[in-house]
Amino acid sequence: MEKLIARGAEADIYLGRWGPLSAIYKVRTAKQYMAEELDKKIRRQRTVREARMLRAARSAVDTPHVLYVSQKKYTIVMEYINGKRMLDIIDKSPSQGKVMGEILGRLHMLNIIHGDPNTANFLFDSKKNKWYLVDFGLSYISSRKEDMAVDLHLVKEVVYVQHPTSFKEIMSGFYDGYMSVSGKMAGIVKKIDEIERRGRYARNRSFLF
Ligand SMILES: Nc1ncnc2c1ncn2[C@@H]1O[C@H](COP(=O)(O)OP(=O)(O)O)[C@@H](O)[C@H]1O
Ligand SMILES: [Mg+2]
Repeated sequence: MEKLIARGAEADIYLGRWGPLSAIYKVRTAKQYMAEELDKKIRRQRTVREARMLRAARSAVDTPHVLYVSQKKYTIVMEYINGKRMLDIIDKSPSQGKVMGEILGRLHMLNIIHGDPNTANFLFDSKKNKWYLVDFGLSYISSRKEDMAVDLHLVKEVVYVQHPTSFKEIMSGFYDGYMSVSGKMAGIVKKIDEIERRGRYARNRSFLF
């Protein structure tokens, strides 16, 4: 029997079993305001994309093993990560920003853009002493620095909104971590500048950057 443990904007997350294993069932739910056929198509696409990218990312970062995918049910069954979210620990230990930077840097070295790098998508399993990255429904392959810059910009926005008091410390650790693994920083920082000066993503918060 599966138990609902989280309800996001696009998916319900259940904790259940897969054979002998604890497993997460990520089920993409219908959006009432969308035309039915289009909604189904998008849910199918994101399900397939997420499963593919969860697997692809594994050569750079730890992600949950994909156990089963059902396009018909818009469902991914994956390994359960028994751990804490970055969201819940980073205000007490803002130096963990470095971990997020390292993980995103390693992903970018593989030319994978995450697409939604918020602090609820980094999970720490203390028994295994490992950080995992989840939520690849908006991920894609790209070697463009501008795409990587958008990922970094999203981190900034999210950290500012979710963790305003530790913002500076988290971001400074984040860049240390990112630079230590990616070596792509110089070009990307320039891109961030350009994007923000164009104002496409600034949304009146340009004072931050
Ligand atoms: N494999 C997993 N193991 C443990 N918890 C998970 C796993 N996948 C997702 N979760 C939990 O469910 C939450 C929402 O899942 P996520 O894939 O990020 O969906 P959403 O698109 O709704 O944000 C995550 O923040 C995390 O707390
Ligand atoms: Mg998420």
